[in-house]
Amino acid sequence: MARDCSRASSDAADTSHRLPLHRIAVPAVGPPRPLTLPAGARAWQVTRYQEVRRVLTDPRFTRVGIFGAGAAEDVIEAPNVMTEERSILNVGTADHHRIRRLVQRAFTPRHIATWRPWVASVIDDLVDALISAGPPADLVPAFTAALPMRVICRLIGVPAADQPRLQAWGSRAMSLSAFSAEEVRSAMTEFADYVGDLVAARRAQPGDDLLTSLITARDHGDALTDGELVSLVRDLIVGGHETTMTALGNSLIALLDDDRRHWQQLVARPDLAATAVEELLRRVPLGDGITEAGLLRRTTEDVELGGVHLPAGSMVAAGTVCANLDPAVYPEPDELDITRRPTTPIMTFGAGPHNCLGAWLARLELELSLRHLARRLPSLRLELAVDRLPFTTGLMTRGPATLPVTWSRPGNGATA
Ligand code: HEM
Repeated sequence: MARDCSRASSDAADTSHRLPLHRIAVPAVGPPRPLTLPAGARAWQVTRYQEVRRVLTDPRFTRVGIFGAGAAEDVIEAPNVMTEERSILNVGTADHHRIRRLVQRAFTPRHIATWRPWVASVIDDLVDALISAGPPADLVPAFTAALPMRVICRLIGVPAADQPRLQAWGSRAMSLSAFSAEEVRSAMTEFADYVGDLVAARRAQPGDDLLTSLITARDHGDALTDGELVSLVRDLIVGGHETTMTALGNSLIALLDDDRRHWQQLVARPDLAATAVEELLRRVPLGDGITEAGLLRRTTEDVELGGVHLPAGSMVAAGTVCANLDPAVYPEPDELDITRRPTTPIMTFGAGPHNCLGAWLARLELELSLRHLARRLPSLRLELAVDRLPFTTGLMTRGPATLPVTWSRPGNGATA
């Protein structure tokens, strides 16, 4: 699932990190600073790696009660998938443990590795189609949106014919301001009804998919209720698709920008794909840096953090983008270096109990995409300057709306 971003304005807007990709201004790393969330709620923005990690791992910082009927204040303008009270992100600790235990075995690195050949074959099919249609192409429909959708649908057991509907619901589910509150609400309801029907169909006729195993999952007598199942499957579809699609599009732009020097490095050494993915996820934010304050938490009691006293009930935004640029952890943090092998895990997938369930799946899709594209389309290049590429706006993720590319047709026996 995407990061929990909220349109926010920092009271001490220090924007010393200027990211080349989107010309994004990211707050400088420093002590917690006050900021105002979209609907006016006050919060503390945390930017240093160790403090962001602490917010996400210390049980005195919680997601519970931030959204929904019992929430103290409005922190987001319109509800979306991240604000659903029944979402795995927002349920209480005991329910979260139970749901996570039931679902996570499908997402362990070892289990995800069994998907490698199949994911590689989907990528090859998409690249075959690109090559046979010939350049130019828009990589969003032809690749970056198609791959994560096919993968998550196959994993869960969603019929391929339904993918366009899921895509439309997915972007509404991730809306901050792109769609009206009513459009988001009705899309979420339709989406939930659709998943409810899918659960009923699979219960009547089990398949070889994650949905069937979630329906039958039992662990020490625990099971998922129907409401939890619907919410979880919806979270997985949205999380599995929107974020990976955005990371893929943004990563390709970062590689193909700047005289294609990173791309050429990858073409020369496709074995760098896994380290390149980690570095791209560290360096290239998924959001736009303005709408994004960080992953939201609320303190359950008084806490001292980075020299600041946070009274019980304080709202905190854990700035994972800033943490990824903390010079105390990543030397030369602004430099995109696809050979970098950091000893400290990147913060892109969060940390602690809510760390991204789909992180290994996302990494697999990104790594295989870069590896196969670099091998099969080494002459790939952008058709437009990065500054002229249209980006999605008003969503929790910010990525290319279209990604026009071209490549040289192969000569006799040469790769494209
Ligand atoms: C590049 C791709 C992705 C990024 C950057 C990403 C990022 C994140 C982050 C930062 C969180 C933690 C949110 C918080 O603590 O407040 C999260 C949670 C989550 N993600 Fe992802 N995600 C990605 C891909 C995926 C995929 C592919 C799936 C599903 C297959 C997925 C499913 C989830 C779920 C279900 C949660 C909630 C986990 C929980 O509450 O226990 N994500 N994601």
